Amino acid sequence: MSLTIRRATIEDAEIIAQIAWQSFYDAFADHPKNAPEDLKSYMDEAFTAKAILAELTDKDSIFFVAEIENKIVGYAKLKQNSCEEGISGENPIELCRLYSLSEFIGKGIGKTLMLKSLEFAKESGHDVIWLGVWEYNHRAQEFYKKFGFEKCGEHIFQLGSDPQTDWLMERKV
Ligand SMILES: CC(C)(COP(=O)(O)OP(=O)(O)OC[C@H]1O[C@@H](n2cnc3c(N)ncnc32)[C@H](O)[C@@H]1OP(=O)(O)O)[C@@H](O)C(=O)NCCC(=O)NCCS
Repeated sequence: MSLTIRRATIEDAEIIAQIAWQSFYDAFADHPKNAPEDLKSYMDEAFTAKAILAELTDKDSIFFVAEIENKIVGYAKLKQNSCEEGISGENPIELCRLYSLSEFIGKGIGKTLMLKSLEFAKESGHDVIWLGVWEYNHRAQEFYKKFGFEKCGEHIFQLGSDPQTDWLMERKV
């Protein structure tokens, strides 16, 4: 299978919304800590084509999509000019989302998207890359540790009515 990565355009809004919805649902819907109504409330707002289009047209946001035979199997979203308390660096960049479709987890999609994100961060002059990851998302935490990210704080991620705790993690670029 040949995997390619490309920067997404506004033409991709609809398909990214579908992939974002599916990959978020598969990752978190079965977790006993997530109430279905909170999940639905967040997803109905975050993963519409309209919301993704707004992100794609935001000058600070960058999407990369991973494709196999022209089908998107994962995506990453980065955001420039995004910082929070606890994040170091003069010019950090946020890795807001990194998702592989569930049937492709463990097949190198996340790694390829991560390497592309790190390359973009470096080429764009950022000195630190950071992210938020749910405290119960141990698989993703381990994945990020493997790429050199370390916990540097916590913040609240609002999932519907549920204020969830995310770990903040960062690494030098
Ligand atoms: C986190 C995620 C993006 C990782 O992507 P992936 O496609 O499964 O990861 P890859 O197959 O590219 O793995 C890359 C490397 O990390 C390692 N790795 C992946 N998950 C790991 C884990 N939980 N623990 C330790 N190592 C891990 C792999 O073994 C591989 O190592 P190698 O290069 O030495 O072979 C993916 O699991 C995912 O989409 N999860 C659901 C959504 C999610 O939680 N996203 C993060 C939200 S913050």
